[in-house]
Amino acid sequence: MKIIMTPNKSGTKISKYIYGHFAEHLGRCIYEGIWVGENSPIPNKNGIRTDVVDALKNICVPVLRWPGGCFADEYHWKDGIGPKEKRKKMVNTHWGGLTENNHFGTHEFFELVSQLGCEAYINGNVGSGTVQEMQEWVEYMTMNGESPMANLRKENHKVDPWKVAFFGVGNESWGCGGNMRPEYYADLYRRYQTYVRQYGKDKIYKIACGPNIDDYNWMEQVMNSAAPFMDGISLHHYALTGAWEDKGPALNFPEEQWWSLIASAQKMDELITKHSTIMDKYDPDKRIGLIVDEWGSWLSVEPGTNPGFLYQQNTIRDAMVAAVTLNIFHKHADRVHMANIAQTVNVLQAMLLTDGEQMVKTPTYHVFDLYKNHQDGELIDSYGDENDTISYTISKKEEKVTISICHFSLTASKELSFDGDNDLTLVDANYITAESMDAHNDFTHPETISIKPFKELSILNGTLNVIIPPMSVVSIVVE
Ligand code: AHR
Repeated sequence: MKIIMTPNKSGTKISKYIYGHFAEHLGRCIYEGIWVGENSPIPNKNGIRTDVVDALKNICVPVLRWPGGCFADEYHWKDGIGPKEKRKKMVNTHWGGLTENNHFGTHEFFELVSQLGCEAYINGNVGSGTVQEMQEWVEYMTMNGESPMANLRKENHKVDPWKVAFFGVGNESWGCGGNMRPEYYADLYRRYQTYVRQYGKDKIYKIACGPNIDDYNWMEQVMNSAAPFMDGISLHHYALTGAWEDKGPALNFPEEQWWSLIASAQKMDELITKHSTIMDKYDPDKRIGLIVDEWGSWLSVEPGTNPGFLYQQNTIRDAMVAAVTLNIFHKHADRVHMANIAQTVNVLQAMLLTDGEQMVKTPTYHVFDLYKNHQDGELIDSYGDENDTISYTISKKEEKVTISICHFSLTASKELSFDGDNDLTLVDANYITAESMDAHNDFTHPETISIKPFKELSILNGTLNVIIPPMSVVSIVVE
């Protein structure tokens, strides 16, 4: 397979926010996975796990979405501030019916954001919250100087405001966020977003609740009524092996589910294309971002775990889903301004799994590691032979070109060659691969899949030749 790179055409910038993450109060994501409390024997800084923060910093997490998900539309932020022993408990009705102590609230979230060095994406409550509650949360977080909410924040020992880069007005308002019709939501969006005020110098990027999967009518109606009032509109699409009601297992799955999960992930391309076409009608200059703030594989929970906790193992198949989807986002980088994989720790297609003080990095984590050079890179156009088991991205940053390739054949290696205008010098090459289609890392074998140097390549007369093994993700840097 031969690919010609055309680096001299000016490319689209791949926003680093495409590499965003999502942490919801769901199962063991926030509690246990991130927050263990200051008095935990698990090493932590101000209550937040040190191992998790270190691992996430390594993949350069650019933005974190919180507190949900469905949880966002029943979260009342004032219950999560002030002295912890006085915080009201709440029942997480969506996810397992567990009683939460609200120890992880606004201050703790911004402590996490500060430890990660990333931006905050707060999702506000439209489903069961008032306009006043949303307005006051924004004022509490971002108002400098004198105001009732700024003063309350100071009473809670935070003098300076925080920065809220992104704010979502409701989540899945067509479903768990209120079961609304698009016409009704669009009007509510216009009203609620009015009070998401900009108090400081930093503009808040406002995100409307967009469609589920292929609900093109939702996109049409909300864009038609509310486009001038938004900076972004969300899209949710999870990769499934078959019907929603009958999710396949994460391990020991039949070969057909290797293909069906990857095909479901590939559907993202069609969804973005069709939703973008609708958006183009109302926003031809592509000012408004399509924000894919929930994506990833959704599989059956691990046997014996709480079905409401969405804890699933993560295999080389999930690595394929991640790489294929990131390649699709790159291709649509002119419209996709941010994406947030669901979810960061212990939930759905997680980066990290924890068990007590143990932590493992998943194959998906390693894809985010291999791909991190693409963050804020310039997309390089290319053309060449088609192949239905190869998906790739080429981008350029600081004179270095990163070529990332996902090969999801189960059996055969594939020869590829990349040709450009210039001579190429190898800088670095790494990959992950596996021997079986459900290879994964667990607490007894944490390194079954890990990043290794990639050696099956040569550069001859300006052409990069590679042999990509099956079930692998490769990232090569040249200059
Ligand atoms: O990510 C899990 C759930 O999936 C989210 O809470 C919700 O928004 C979506 O349905």
